Parts: sequence; structure tokens; C-alpha cells
Amino acid sequence: MVSIKGKVALITGASRGIGKAISKALAQEGVNLAINSRAEEGLLILKNELKDLGIDILICPFDLRDSKAPKLIIDKVIEHFGRLDILINNAGIALSKSIMETTEEEWDEIMTVNAKAPFFLCKYAIPYLKKSDMPTIINISSVVGTKGYVNQGAYTASKHALTGFTKVLAQEIHEDGIRVHIIAPGGVATDLVTIMRPDIDPATLIKPEEIANIVIFLLKFRGNAVIDEINVRREKNTPWR
Ligand SMILES: NC(=O)c1ccc[n+]([C@@H]2O[C@H](COP(=O)([O-])OP(=O)(O)OC[C@H]3O[C@@H](n4cnc5c(N)ncnc54)[C@H](OP(=O)(O)O)[C@@H]3O)[C@@H](O)[C@H]2O)c1
Repeated sequence: MVSIKGKVALITGASRGIGKAISKALAQEGVNLAINSRAEEGLLILKNELKDLGIDILICPFDLRDSKAPKLIIDKVIEHFGRLDILINNAGIALSKSIMETTEEEWDEIMTVNAKAPFFLCKYAIPYLKKSDMPTIINISSVVGTKGYVNQGAYTASKHALTGFTKVLAQEIHEDGIRVHIIAPGGVATDLVTIMRPDIDPATLIKPEEIANIVIFLLKFRGNAVIDEINVRREKNTPWR
């Protein structure tokens, strides 16, 4: 287990849910943060919550639906910190609709936020990650990165796309020493799950802090063994299903 104190991490979707929990866990480890989401307010609240930890926090309020956002975010991070060690593509949106009900606009929006933006954030981050001594990308996919659930057609397609390009990315930048991981959770207790799975008993949902702990483990576990993907299910769910 290595120390990650003093590293610089960019986390998208940091204002709420899983991204906020990851940001807090990284801050506790002494990692300097660039935090992104659309709304500035949630980022300022998080920055204030972490103000006593002695880390540098840059807020990056950009809308990932804007195709210019990935480059603008990386440019801002490099302008401020001069480096980047960890990229966590966490921001995501959900849609609970049958394929027959899904509009072209909804398809485009979900594919842009969940797949296209992470793709280009990786692309623009890689030249800087190559200069880091522990370069790491963690993409937050989902159980539907490999499975398919009814009424989640567009969301499932977006997470399959994220999972698919992540597999290729990991191979293309392996020689540069950049580690690439996927975390694929089932239901986590956030705003998003209330849209997708209102049927699940909230008491049985995975806690965002549990996903954050997995992120910290992946970052600090730097032996010869590398974990490509971690699938995380709710304890109540049947194993291997
Ligand atoms: N919750 C689950 O059950 C679950 C399960 C598997 C995978 N996941 C994945 O985990 C990730 C985080 O989800 P969550 O459950 O934490 O969701 P959440 O609570 O709804 O939070 C989503 C985050 O993404 C940001 N975001 C949304 N649209 C954005 C945009 N266009 N540009 C920039 N930021 C944007 C939101 O902030 P703003 O609204 O301010 O922009 C927020 O910070 C997602 O990729 C999701 O697919 C979640």
C-alpha cells in the first residue's frame, strides 16, 4: 500500500452521490482535488466541507454535455496544478424508459455525458498522466456495463460504451504505465438510483462511501497485481447473477 498524499485528482460529478464520497475519501488521504459538476453551488459546499484538511481544491463547473468541456476542464486543471495523477470519470445521468419511449435527444444526452465525455477526458488527460509516477484512470461504469436491464436501454448502451472503450484504453496506454480500472456497481444510495430503481429497499443499497473505499484501495494497492475491473453487488442480490 503506497501513500497518495500530495497527488492531484480530477473527479467528475463530484457535487453529489458517489463522486462526492470519492472526493471526501481522497481529501482524507491528502490528495489535492479538481472537482467537476454542472452546478457551482454543490462544488463550493464540498470545498467548504473539506477546508480544514490542508489540501488544494479547484472547482471546475462545466457541463459535460458541451463537447468543449473535456478539454477546457483538463486545461484548467493543468493551468492550476501543473500536473494530473488521477482521473476519475464518475459523472453520469440515468434514464428509465423503454427503447420505444426514448427520444433521439435523450439518447444523445446520455451517450454524451456517460460515454463521450469520459472518452475525451481520458484523451486530453493522458499526455499529463504520462508524466505522473502513479498515473491512474478509474471509470465508474455500472452493472449494466455488461448486463442489460429492461427500461434502461439508453443507459445500458452508454455504460457498455464506457466499458468498451475503457478495455481498449487500458491496452493502448499500458506501456506508458497508466493503470486503468473499471468499478461496476449495482444499486448505490444516491439521487440516481431513485430514478432507476425506486423498487429497491433503500436500506439494502450500497453506500457511496463503500465505493469510495474501493477507489482508495485501487489507488493505494500498487504491487505487481493489478485489478482491471471490480464488480460490486448489493449484499441482498444473488451472487454471480
Ligand atoms: N447510484 C447507482 O445506483 C449507480 C449504480 C451504478 C453506477 N452508477 C454510476 O455512478 C456514477 C455516479 O452516479 P451517482 O449515483 O452518484 O449519481 P448522482 O447522485 O445523480 O450524481 C451525479 C453527479 O454527476 C453530475 N452531473 C450530471 N450531469 C452532468 C453534466 N452534464 N456535466 C457535469 N456533471 C454532471 C451531477 O452534478 P450536477 O447535477 O450538478 O451536474 C452529480 O454530481 C454515474 O456514472 C452512475 O452511472 C450509479
